[in-house]
Amino acid sequence: MSLPNLPSVIIRGTGAYTPENVVHNNDMAKTVDTSDEWIFTRTGIRERRFAAADETSSTMASIAGRRAMEAAGVHPEEIDLVIVATITPDMPFPSTACLVQHALGLKPITAFDIEAACSGFLYALRIGANMLRTGDFKKALIIGTEKMSSILDFSDRSTCVLFGDGAGAVVLSCGEGSDEGILGTLSGSDGSNPALLCQPGGGSRQPATATSIHARAHFLKMNGKEIFKVAVRVMEQASRDILKQRGFSPDQLDCIIPHQANMRIIESIASRLKVPMDKFYNNLSTYGNTSAASIPIALDEAVRSRRVNKGDLLLLVGFGAGLTWGASLIKWS
Ligand SMILES: CC(C)(COP(=O)(O)OP(=O)(O)OC[C@H]1O[C@@H](n2cnc3c(N)ncnc32)[C@H](O)[C@@H]1OP(=O)(O)O)[C@@H](O)C(=O)NCCC(=O)NCCS
Repeated sequence: MSLPNLPSVIIRGTGAYTPENVVHNNDMAKTVDTSDEWIFTRTGIRERRFAAADETSSTMASIAGRRAMEAAGVHPEEIDLVIVATITPDMPFPSTACLVQHALGLKPITAFDIEAACSGFLYALRIGANMLRTGDFKKALIIGTEKMSSILDFSDRSTCVLFGDGAGAVVLSCGEGSDEGILGTLSGSDGSNPALLCQPGGGSRQPATATSIHARAHFLKMNGKEIFKVAVRVMEQASRDILKQRGFSPDQLDCIIPHQANMRIIESIASRLKVPMDKFYNNLSTYGNTSAASIPIALDEAVRSRRVNKGDLLLLVGFGAGLTWGASLIKWS
């Protein structure tokens, strides 16, 4: 929810990075029992990018972050807050944000990770915007980055074809009025059924052992059918709630950037909200689901291709493991 007496927060610049290695569905079908036809008709995905062995979530985040600073015309020494959203950190600790702080030559500023799976960027955007509004921080770098290929089980065809790697970033700072920039943010969670989408091994519940590795517990597991149903419901609700909070209706939106998980999920939301599909920005066919990176990568593309322009009313909305969900309503400036 936006705070009317506090300054607005503006996205000053966007940036993204996706790895060079393009893996088409036909390439997947060489090693996985699947086909381009099955993947494309069920999901809308044609290809994804897989990072090289020497690329990590922090290296991709750093490139996206540098591009966002360049687009914003902000020098590294001006950044005083870095939040990185990821479920595939370079290592459990230290945080990927600390690695980014060093890689970008930032001052010894506040840097931390948050983990809300595919909703991570929207959580980070909300946290970052509200930290700026307090006046304690001036310029924030908010990044979503994932090397999903590092946790995919390539013997599970129902999940390994869905995800890809990449990073997206924005630079935030406060504006003047209250009717521009990030008008409102929302986030939520329901932890009642974590097994719907999880990586069961490697944490304190099931630390790494020979048994956990043998059980393939360190890979992503998902109940696709259930996630599909929940995703449609929570993304529709989050969209309606944030629009209502700020006194808008779905038909006033100029552009919606949904989490890029499945084209059928996006089509269902469009039909429930009664918003035409051409208002939705989609790049799912090119990148697959890049989890916390999906919305900032799509936002960067939409901004650079002028699909989003000054004055446009923009909705970012997503969901992910947890379950988590989030939304952000933005008057682009
Ligand atoms: C994963 C998903 C595409 C599966 O689609 P679905 O229509 O539910 O497919 P099902 O799981 O019912 O599987 C149907 C059949 O296809 C098979 N199949 C699964 N993956 C396959 C693949 N990659 N290639 C070919 N066949 C596949 C299944 O084995 C099953 O075969 P069977 O009927 O002989 O048992 C869909 O459930 C989905 O997208 N869910 C949401 C996932 C998501 O967005 N996750 C990210 C959250 S952030």
